[in-house]
Amino acid sequence: MNDLIIQNIQELILPKSTDRPLKGRELDELTIVENGTVVVKDGKIVYSGPHTEEYEAHETIDATGKVVSPALIDAHTHLVHGGSREHEMALKRQGVSYLEILKQGGGILSTVKATREASAEELFKKAEYNLLTMIHHGVLGVESKSGYGLDRETELKQLRVSHRLADKYQLDMKHTFLGPHAVPAGRGGEEFMQEMIDFLPEVKDYADFADVFCETGVFTIEESRRYMQAANDLGMRVKIHADEIDPLGGLELAIEQHAISADHLVAASEEGKRQLHDSDTVAVLLPGTTFYLNKDSYADARGMIDNNGAIAIATDFNPGSCVTNNLQMVMAIAALKLKLSPNEIWNAVTVNAAKAIGLDAGTINTGDRANIVIWHAPNHQYIPYHYGVNHAEKVIKDGQVIVDHDLALK
Ligand code: NIG
Ligand code: FE
Repeated sequence: MNDLIIQNIQELILPKSTDRPLKGRELDELTIVENGTVVVKDGKIVYSGPHTEEYEAHETIDATGKVVSPALIDAHTHLVHGGSREHEMALKRQGVSYLEILKQGGGILSTVKATREASAEELFKKAEYNLLTMIHHGVLGVESKSGYGLDRETELKQLRVSHRLADKYQLDMKHTFLGPHAVPAGRGGEEFMQEMIDFLPEVKDYADFADVFCETGVFTIEESRRYMQAANDLGMRVKIHADEIDPLGGLELAIEQHAISADHLVAASEEGKRQLHDSDTVAVLLPGTTFYLNKDSYADARGMIDNNGAIAIATDFNPGSCVTNNLQMVMAIAALKLKLSPNEIWNAVTVNAAKAIGLDAGTINTGDRANIVIWHAPNHQYIPYHYGVNHAEKVIKDGQVIVDHDLALK
């Protein structure tokens, strides 16, 4: 006997199972079954496809008028951090730029101070709340970065909190070391980078990936290359915050270093975008950040897709440049500002987001883990359209309903 049948699904979204990220035109290909059925047993998908009465189960959920999809994956977050930076809103209103705030010792460096001061328990509580918010919004796969310690003790404190969360909620999480996220006050970029490189053999036990913020006034291309090479030599996969504000050639470096992803890419060069053609490095685009930094120009997602690139989209949830952990909101921004089609958006937050962080997730085909969302929405276009609110009605993890939103008032 099966455990669960989801029946009468208005639209069942079935991204393709694939070993490689979806690239170029493949991103617009998505199977959407009208009047679908999903069958689950022992936490795994037994069947997903057109309506069938063939199966029996202990429990049936009627999804008439609803959309069903794989649970979403948020492939770029700074989940674990101390404090908040609402005071920066006033500076932003006065036109002070993100990099200028950082130069003045604010921005990332102010979160570093708060994260150093916070106890592991305080960090855990705060990150737990934000993680649960994500889960309530339909996310069951999360990448979580360190990077607000810039010292051994605090970076490890962040990574341990991240692991504790993954254990407590038995979640698909990937943990990323982002030691070179900023240059601490009074230090030189090169010597601090060397300290982070020397730290990699120890950090390897706590982190799946090594990441770096390659940007004007932060780390140069050469410093970033040395770091990525060192991580690669140790067998760690690498990521890079690349070409977010200035076009330094971060995307080209990511491809050269076989990064699993290159993230931001708002200012990526034509040459970098061209090189995506022959690369499986996933361009993780973070349009919520561009929105929140109040910029006019967004990443050239269309150009990357036209060049047969692989793209994913993610929140970049952090206390400064993108203060939202609602991936649905970012799907709406991607529709408007990156000009992605609904099919591209769904692939970018499921299967390709999983590829960007090396997760076997983002699909609900036979044999897959039954991580599913039932959406209070009549069709798949609706979610990026009706923006800023939560459309996830039920979130199902390993075949169990773990979130069930009932709007009835108490
Ligand atoms: O991805 N750009 C660098 N790092 C983060 C922002 C971190 C922060 O402002 O606290 C990002 O946008
Ligand atoms: Fe980031």
